[in-house]
Amino acid sequence: MLPHPTLTDRYATAEAKPEFVNRLFDRGAAYYDTVVDWGFLHSGAWYRRRALKQHGLRPPHQLLDVACGTGLVAAEAARILGTAENITCLDPSEGMMAVARSKLAAHFVIGRAEHIPAPDNSFDFLTMGYALRHVTSLDEAFREFRRVLKPNGRLLILEITKPVGRIPGFFFRLYFARIYPFLAFLFTRSEDAREMMRYYWETMDACVRPESVLKALADAGLTQVRRDVALGVFSEYTAVKAGPAAE
Ligand SMILES: C[S@@+](CC[C@H](N)C(=O)[O-])C[C@H]1O[C@@H](n2cnc3c(N)ncnc32)[C@H](O)[C@@H]1O
Repeated sequence: MLPHPTLTDRYATAEAKPEFVNRLFDRGAAYYDTVVDWGFLHSGAWYRRRALKQHGLRPPHQLLDVACGTGLVAAEAARILGTAENITCLDPSEGMMAVARSKLAAHFVIGRAEHIPAPDNSFDFLTMGYALRHVTSLDEAFREFRRVLKPNGRLLILEITKPVGRIPGFFFRLYFARIYPFLAFLFTRSEDAREMMRYYWETMDACVRPESVLKALADAGLTQVRRDVALGVFSEYTAVKAGPAAE
């Protein structure tokens, strides 16, 4: 299942998406932290840490942070775990990962969610922050998540979901389609930053609904699949790889 239909205004075919997305994040990497910090009113670190704690990350978990980007999820995980040594950060963008490397003494691996270069049953906890829309196949990514998790291992996927009602939908669109890309440019003076945030909106707008994400997680063989929602738009998908105590 695709996370969203092919966005032909951006790339001609589904096959061309990874290269487009990679270039977008390589170019935007230097601005990502500033843009996300202002765009979410400095709440990002607090929110990521709260979600990780609430959904059960704790020492001495071995964590895989898929789509680590500039390390915003991994940095909060390191605070909870008391070390970055147990954290493996995976991302296809060299540019994003270079920023993460400068902050964090974790293990860094260039790679994609759909083909994770790690043995089966490697991690206690797996996170993916705000990158679900960028994979080429939800099914492939979720099967990989299940494969690399240890039995009883848990995953947490953070995502922003467009609200359903007309009025919340109007304000959501106004902010993410218009105001946020403009602010991104204002704070950075970078067209690359503005483009990154325009694409952010386009993928949120086109993204499959939460029921499809939940179904894809269950179809991948994961159990205890659920979605918690904060403030109506911050989706927290969790699931467990069945094991002796979780069955
Ligand atoms: C919006 S950033 C999210 C960064 C970080 N997780 C956070 O919470 O801010 C999306 C990241 O997904 C990465 N990405 C794109 N396609 C991916 C894929 N197929 N597998 C894993 N990561 C991917 C991008 O390179 C980028 O760093």
